[in-house]
Amino acid sequence: MKDHRTKGFDISGLHLRDSLPADLEQLVNIDRLCFPEGIAYAKEDFHYLSKKNGSYTVVAEYDQRIVAFAIIVTETTKMHLVTLDVLPSLQGEGIGSLLMNQILNRACLDKIQRVDLEVAEDNPKAISFYRAQGFHTVKRLRKYYPNNRDALVMTGKPKRANFEIGSLVK
Ligand SMILES: CC(C)(COP(=O)(O)OP(=O)(O)OC[C@H]1O[C@@H](n2cnc3c(N)ncnc32)[C@H](O)[C@@H]1OP(=O)(O)O)[C@@H](O)C(=O)NCCC(=O)NCCS
Repeated sequence: MKDHRTKGFDISGLHLRDSLPADLEQLVNIDRLCFPEGIAYAKEDFHYLSKKNGSYTVVAEYDQRIVAFAIIVTETTKMHLVTLDVLPSLQGEGIGSLLMNQILNRACLDKIQRVDLEVAEDNPKAISFYRAQGFHTVKRLRKYYPNNRDALVMTGKPKRANFEIGSLVK
């Protein structure tokens, strides 16, 4: 496989934090850069998701600019990873992994037992990313996305990070 790590991004400059209402524009823009029209979330979707019980969004900042984020909804002992987006120009530099480690670490502390997510079956980069994070496919949802693409439902387990990540470590 072609080496996708090419830019030598300095990951130690990343700062992770919970998102604030003022981040909304940046999140919408990153999602639009990551996904085609019709699949990317609209502003209203972000509003809706942020109001759901048990939902929170973690952002990764570099130089005071958001470069990645993840939306999570927790329900007692289960967690749903709604989306994880890394700015396209910075993908493949370990940012997604760092964010995921943070999420899985926090899930562990919150006594979450299972993390579920849906990923488009024609998104090999994300599927390979989630597999590398220990997730596996449990089922396929036919025509799940508005463009009629199938989704794979993947599931994984929380895990403690063996290093300190940003300001969110409890
Ligand atoms: C999927 C995504 C979140 C991964 O984040 P990332 O920061 O690019 O990934 P990382 O650099 O942390 O890579 C971690 C692992 O994922 C896999 N991976 C990442 N990019 C890859 C690529 N282009 N091809 C194959 N595998 C890849 C590798 O296993 C990699 O480990 P390695 O670098 O040791 O080989 C990111 O690419 C993204 O935002 N994509 C667009 C939005 C999206 O599809 N999100 C998923 C929504 S369900």
